[in-house]
Amino acid sequence: MNDQRKTDFMNIFASHVDHLDDLLEQQWHLIEDCTEENQDSLIADSRDIMLHAHRAILSSCRRCKLHAGRINMVYGEGNHNAEVMFVGEGPGQNEDETGHPFVGKAGQLLDKIIEAMGLSRRDVYIANIIKCRPPNNRNPEHDEILACKKFLDQQILIIEPKIIVTLGTPAVKTLLETDRGIMSLRGQFSDYRGIPLLPTYHPSYLLRNPAAKKDAWEDIQKVMRFLKE
Ligand code: URA
Repeated sequence: MNDQRKTDFMNIFASHVDHLDDLLEQQWHLIEDCTEENQDSLIADSRDIMLHAHRAILSSCRRCKLHAGRINMVYGEGNHNAEVMFVGEGPGQNEDETGHPFVGKAGQLLDKIIEAMGLSRRDVYIANIIKCRPPNNRNPEHDEILACKKFLDQQILIIEPKIIVTLGTPAVKTLLETDRGIMSLRGQFSDYRGIPLLPTYHPSYLLRNPAAKKDAWEDIQKVMRFLKE
């Protein structure tokens, strides 16, 4: 894509960002229908461009009150063609300061989980249900989750992972639109818009309750078996 086309694309994207889903779906159909030999690289290029534009547009987001206290928006990061997408709750202090997801103690445990799967951060994608840090790390409020959710939906639509692994209660409640908590949902496959979703415990919970690591490992092994199928 030349620079002018990139700029045009960004402008179209920006004007549609609140209602991007149709545009994204059309884009996928166009790519999927094309018979070119380089379809895979075309899809990878499209993912890069769309995620780049999406991140750039959201970096100045003021749709909820959390924008006022943020240092950085934490968009999410990893492999744009990832098979596994982890979804956590929201940025804490370390994430707000750096702009990267899961970089504190919970992040170090998530890294170990990813390594135990035989993968690295470069293989997976990591996002959160909200992209800005709540004051004093309080739980995200309903209006904040609502304002941010469609952008996570769009990220998932672009990446199209083979499986989503939600970490903790707010992530699974948000994506499955359920009132049930992690205790009753963990380790069971559900469906998020045609993508298998497996909920497990949040790494912060595992740090506070090391005995639950055994259950979390069982969940992760289910994910690994699914990926091998
Ligand atoms: N906890 C989360 O849920 N997400 C992060 O990015 C960091 C800690």
